[in-house]
Amino acid sequence: MKARATLDRVLSKAGIASRTTTREWIENGRVKVNGKVVRDPDHWVEQGKDVVHLDGRRIKAEKKIYVALNKPTGVITSHGDNQNRPTVYDYVKQLDRWLIPVGRLDMDTSGLIVLTNDTDFGEALLNPTTGIPKTYYVKAAGVVSDSQYFDLAYGLDIGRGERSGPSVVREVRASPKYTWMELTITEGKNRQVRRMCEAIGHVVLKLVRIRIGGFSLGDIPVGTFKILDAKDLKKLLSR
Ligand code: URA
Repeated sequence: MKARATLDRVLSKAGIASRTTTREWIENGRVKVNGKVVRDPDHWVEQGKDVVHLDGRRIKAEKKIYVALNKPTGVITSHGDNQNRPTVYDYVKQLDRWLIPVGRLDMDTSGLIVLTNDTDFGEALLNPTTGIPKTYYVKAAGVVSDSQYFDLAYGLDIGRGERSGPSVVREVRASPKYTWMELTITEGKNRQVRRMCEAIGHVVLKLVRIRIGGFSLGDIPVGTFKILDAKDLKKLLSR
């Protein structure tokens, strides 16, 4: 991180909460810089020189952590909801670290999701301009024709005024009733894969994210995670 940063950023980068939450803490007078309460989240802090306390506790930069979770179906990618459904946080609880999921998977989608306290890394992975590919294994109802494969690959109207961009699609297997394929997209529109398949008239019966960049889910068992090393991160960011 840069030597000079705003107070809200210093706190969020310490890996204890999101920027929105840390701004609230600061405005509520819970944060001191060099012994004095500062209520301005945009106050500049010289790192390595200024001393920051939250509720009397010294704040220092936390070590970055990156986790690849194999999310089961039936699990939501956000903090708890009013239906008390299980969340991705339940699966990384034992790490006892502040983590945020990078992007989201639908409740009915399983597979690879990255969680980290490094918000810059998360943004790089998600930003459509970096074009990191995400690959899904799809089981769809019915037989997908050549012209429908073409539409998926070329890009098509997926409703609500949105179009999918070009994708790479490969048939893995087909039976008279079902089609299994691998679909790679570089965008992250809401429910994009399901909407692409619906747009060609096929309902998705099973959806698993199997790869992000050059990093594959591999043999991480469902419901468990792997702590990622520098090599893994390089793979995640590779196109
Ligand atoms: N596309 C979808 O439709 N759902 C997901 O969870 C991810 C991509």
